[in-house]
Amino acid sequence: MPTPAAPFVVATPAELLQQPAEYQELVKKIIVSHAINELAGATVYDEPAIAFAPTPYWKWHACRIAMEEYGHHVRFAKMGKAIGVAEDTMIPGRTEKRSLNIFDTTLGGWAEFCVLKMIGDLAEILQVEDLLSCSYVPLRKAAKITMPEEKFHATFGERACAELVQTAEGRSGVQAGINKLFPTLPAFFGRANSKNNELYRKWGIKERTNEAMRADYLERARVLVEKIGLKLPKLPAA
Ligand SMILES: [Fe+2]
Ligand SMILES: [Fe+2]
Repeated sequence: MPTPAAPFVVATPAELLQQPAEYQELVKKIIVSHAINELAGATVYDEPAIAFAPTPYWKWHACRIAMEEYGHHVRFAKMGKAIGVAEDTMIPGRTEKRSLNIFDTTLGGWAEFCVLKMIGDLAEILQVEDLLSCSYVPLRKAAKITMPEEKFHATFGERACAELVQTAEGRSGVQAGINKLFPTLPAFFGRANSKNNELYRKWGIKERTNEAMRADYLERARVLVEKIGLKLPKLPAA
């Protein structure tokens, strides 16, 4: 099939149903992926973090973050339902589709949560940025509303980690969190030479290659971690 002529824009769920099956499936796939991973993250990390938060001030932040992450699932799931995706397909444990590996864990404590927000939500920011000019307009709108919230989460992570590294105990907790979580994050961007990514770009759903996003992420994560005087662990050879 030839590459669609630019600008290719699909404004509504009703218009989506008029598009070729390949486009419809890709839009469903990316919505399902966001819905599953937002819910997995909220369940595994954000809600348990409220109990670990050390002071009322940080509990307030943790509550807001958990509320917003559950809200992201609700936002993407609503978009999915509008185009005929069954609700169970977007709930981890009720569908065969698995969430990302980073969510196959148990939250180890407050420092680990702060690290997740600093470098994990940075990965999410890159994914959301890539949808800001998505050809499917409801996804573009969702990305626009979601972006300030993801930026708030990442900024929270930077601030909380910067505070923790002021003590020896906090510093080792943050470095341990980085050592645990960072190796799982490059996979967040998918495989190199991905056929799926090629199709997403062909239809204007996504803009950048997995490789370009991953390289951008690794550099941005390195800068953040070095800013607080810590180091990223070496990644195993790909
Ligand atoms: Fe989110
Ligand atoms: Fe977030």
